Amino acid sequence: MRKPFIAGNWKMNNTVGESVKLARELLDAGSFKNKVLIAPPFTSLSEVSKIVKGTELLLGAQNMASVESGAHTGEISVLMLKDLDVNAVILGHSERRHIYGESNEIINTKVKLALHHGLDVILCVGETLEERESGNAEAVVKKQLVEGLKDVSPADIAKVVVAYEPVWAIGTGKTASPEDAQAIHLFIRNEVKAIYGEKEASELIIQYGGSVKPGNVVTLMAQEDIDGALVGGAALKAETFVPIMDFNK
Ligand code: 13P
Repeated sequence: MRKPFIAGNWKMNNTVGESVKLARELLDAGSFKNKVLIAPPFTSLSEVSKIVKGTELLLGAQNMASVESGAHTGEISVLMLKDLDVNAVILGHSERRHIYGESNEIINTKVKLALHHGLDVILCVGETLEERESGNAEAVVKKQLVEGLKDVSPADIAKVVVAYEPVWAIGTGKTASPEDAQAIHLFIRNEVKAIYGEKEASELIIQYGGSVKPGNVVTLMAQEDIDGALVGGAALKAETFVPIMDFNK
C-alpha cells in the first residue's frame, strides 16, 4: 500500500510572516491522514521549521546547490538545509530546468548529494507541450528519469519520490486528464522497475503536478499509479490546500 503524499510547492511566494501564518493554518485544519509536506522559499525555512518541528507536517526545500560549500554566490547548500531540519528537497522542477537551464546531469549531481546527506528527494520530470504534441512525452520523461537517477543505489531509491509535472499543465489551469496522467505514471513505474526491480517500483510514490485543485484532486488520486500531488498555486492558501491534503478524509 502506498500512502498518499501531498506536497505544496510555494515557489517564490510568501514572506516570513505569511509563511508562518499559512503553516499554522495548515497545522490547525489538517487531519494529516496522508503524508503532507510544504516547501516554503529559503528565507522562510528557518521560522517554518520551528513551527512544524514535532508535528506531522514535513518541511521541504525547493532546490539546493550541486556542491556542499564554497565560492558559489547565491546558492544554498544541503548542509544548510539539514541544519534547519528540512526533510526533503524538490529537484529538477521544470522552472529550474527551463528558466535556469538545469541539465539532467546537474540534477543528478544534486539528487545524489541530497541522498548522501539523508534528505529525501522529490525528482520532477515532465514534457513541454511541443514535446507532447510531437509524440515525445515518454522519451523525454524517460531521459529525465534515467539520467536523473543515474548511480542512485537501490537502497536510496526508497527515499526518492518522482513528481510527474507536464510543463503545459503548470500554472495554466490545464490539467492532464486523469487517464493521460495515469498512462505516464505507469510508464514511469515500469521504467523504475526496469532499473531497480519489482519491489522498488511497486513502492515508488509518484506524484502528479500541474493545476491540481480541490475540484480535480479526487479523480486524479483515484488513478492506480497516481500516489500523490505536487501542488503550486492551490498550495498558497489553507482554504484550497487543506481540501487537497485531506482529499480522502
Ligand atoms: P500549479 O499547481 O500552480 O500548476 O504548479 C504545479 C507545480 O509546478 C508544483 O511544483
